[in-house]
Amino acid sequence: FAPKVLAGRKVLITAGPTFEAIDPVRGITNLSSGRMGYAVARAARQAGAAVTLVSGPVDLAVPQGVERVKVRSALDMHAAVMARAAGSDVFVGVAAVADYRVNNAAEHKLKKDTGGIPPIELIENPDILAEVAALKNGPFCVGFAAESRNLEEYAQTKRRKKNIPLIAGNLIQDGFGGDDNRLVLFDDHGSHPLTPAPKSVLARQLVEHIAQLLTGKM
Ligand code: PMT
Repeated sequence: FAPKVLAGRKVLITAGPTFEAIDPVRGITNLSSGRMGYAVARAARQAGAAVTLVSGPVDLAVPQGVERVKVRSALDMHAAVMARAAGSDVFVGVAAVADYRVNNAAEHKLKKDTGGIPPIELIENPDILAEVAALKNGPFCVGFAAESRNLEEYAQTKRRKKNIPLIAGNLIQDGFGGDDNRLVLFDDHGSHPLTPAPKSVLARQLVEHIAQLLTGKM
């Protein structure tokens, strides 16, 4: 980054999957590697921001100069984010948060020989991004949407439903895992497809887009 477009800003980012326990050794999770979120954290830091990265369980090094808070479940992530959101200027939700958690998680390991198939009862998790977006004088909110089809329609619907100014859409086959991605940014001005590139490059473009919207240059 030549100009430090986010100098003096506090940026809060979520990354990676969440892990919703079924019993002490089993759980429900997803294939997010954390790479996209960590790339956004690195790019925001390089753009001069003070960055806190709330990360689900992933095997990635902490980007230089970034404060990382490790969490496991969506409820942990929710608590870590809500404790910091009001003091942030920008919130970027890159994490693939589980929509549901297990309501009847077992304290002890489930045994196969106790008869019958154990029922797993699901309960809805809080929508972290929507809650941050609803804060009075809260941060500028950016979401992500991973879809298997109808990217524009579904991403724009999420943007409106969560009431956020910017969402980055990607197809699941492009975005989950791997070092590269294909992003389309959706904001009040319409859609901005970015050229497919390494996540590090796309993260820098996203950060520049956020900075432009923040300063009203778009
Ligand atoms: O980690 P990688 O392997 O690099 O993959 C990156 C990615 C594909 C996970 C990432 O680019 C991405 O698209 N993340 C969002 C995944 C998704 O589809 O989220 P969602 O549609 O469930 O949620 C939409 C938005 O709301 C997201 O910003 C999400 O962080 C947020 N959300 C969702 C549910 C919830 N309970 N709380 C939330 O904050």
